[in-house]
Amino acid sequence: MTVDWPRNDYSRVPFSVYHDPELYTLEMERVFRGNCWSYLAFEAEVPNPGDFRTTWVGDTPVVVSRSDDGQLHAFVNRCSHRGAQIVREVSGHCKTDHVCIYHRWCYSKKGELIGVPFRRGLQGQGGMPADFDMQAHHPKALRLANYHGVLFGTFSDAAEPIETYLGEFGTGMIKRFMHKPIKILGYTRQLIEGNWKLYAENLRDTYHASLLHEFFVTYGVDRATQKGGVRMDERHRHNMNYAFSNSDTQSQAEQAYAGISGVELDRMRLSDQKILAYRPEFADGLNLATPTFFPNAIIIQINNSLSSRQIRPKGVNAHEIFQTLFGYEDDTEEMTRHRLISANLVGPAGLVSMEDGEAIEIVQKATRRETASHSLVEMGGLGPIQNLEHRVTETPIRGFWSYWSELMGMEPEGGIR
Ligand code: FES
Ligand SMILES: [Fe+2]
Repeated sequence: MTVDWPRNDYSRVPFSVYHDPELYTLEMERVFRGNCWSYLAFEAEVPNPGDFRTTWVGDTPVVVSRSDDGQLHAFVNRCSHRGAQIVREVSGHCKTDHVCIYHRWCYSKKGELIGVPFRRGLQGQGGMPADFDMQAHHPKALRLANYHGVLFGTFSDAAEPIETYLGEFGTGMIKRFMHKPIKILGYTRQLIEGNWKLYAENLRDTYHASLLHEFFVTYGVDRATQKGGVRMDERHRHNMNYAFSNSDTQSQAEQAYAGISGVELDRMRLSDQKILAYRPEFADGLNLATPTFFPNAIIIQINNSLSSRQIRPKGVNAHEIFQTLFGYEDDTEEMTRHRLISANLVGPAGLVSMEDGEAIEIVQKATRRETASHSLVEMGGLGPIQNLEHRVTETPIRGFWSYWSELMGMEPEGGIR
């Protein structure tokens, strides 16, 4: 199977990549079970022995669990018996072992099969064959890496060490967010009827932020006129859009957006400004930082709202965005409240995030019958994929595709990296 790339710099993306079920199946193998690391959860969600959190790698359900000796484990959340999901809660604490509800097979906190009801039958009748070997039927384990409290998993023995995978850019950004112990504030989930890669593109699309998101541009949270830009790792798989707060003026913005249909900077006024309040808290002075981690995650700061978002593919036509909101352990109660107010910007009904779901769904719908055609990804220029000190660009989208193609073995001839 190949992808017919019209150009070798990924500035044309064939619409078939969002709709082809065969390609989707290959992605689950070559991307999500290939040589890359997927974001799983935060260590702060499983602080004590017995704690667990369910998560996904591609469309494979996974449990992250802390065993009694304090070690962290990740294993496929599928019963070795007849395939039911073993753990069904989002997160929790397990006193003794994990029990599959269907026929009550038991699994240790390390993910080993340790109990089978009626294994020896009843009064000499039934039961499993005498040579049934429980050890041969543990759920598949993943390699797990804990990088400064962010947990990643991989099915591959050949995946590079996590530090190398994240690179200087990725490790630096994780250290930025995880510079002190975090506190989990809550979760949101959102089902979007669109291919998962449309979300991955959206996260790398600086261009749309101040055009689609009227709230951003009207209230100056994120505008193209702010100082900022895009950064990527060397292989262009992870990337970030960033901006400095208060680095533009109202008149600069008014000039820049004058004449753009549908964008009116003075259309709305907030009678309560609390939601816009921003308290500088990072040494780098950014009010917006959005490092993405190929293939499935972003850690995102919009003002003082902090969260991770995980992309969970649900078949070729849908994905779920699972968001984990966090603050810091040493936040005052008042600061936590402030973070939760800022969090009204994000999530399924968020004043900003809501529109991303809609944008993705209208792309999915409108391209369904146009699979021989392609999108245009030229904003910010053609040719080399590089870091930029401005925000009128979608170059990181081409970076995403270049690495995706490499993993899939579907690079165009002379494909740029
Ligand atoms: S499917 Fe889990 S015990 Fe039967
Ligand atoms: Fe967006």
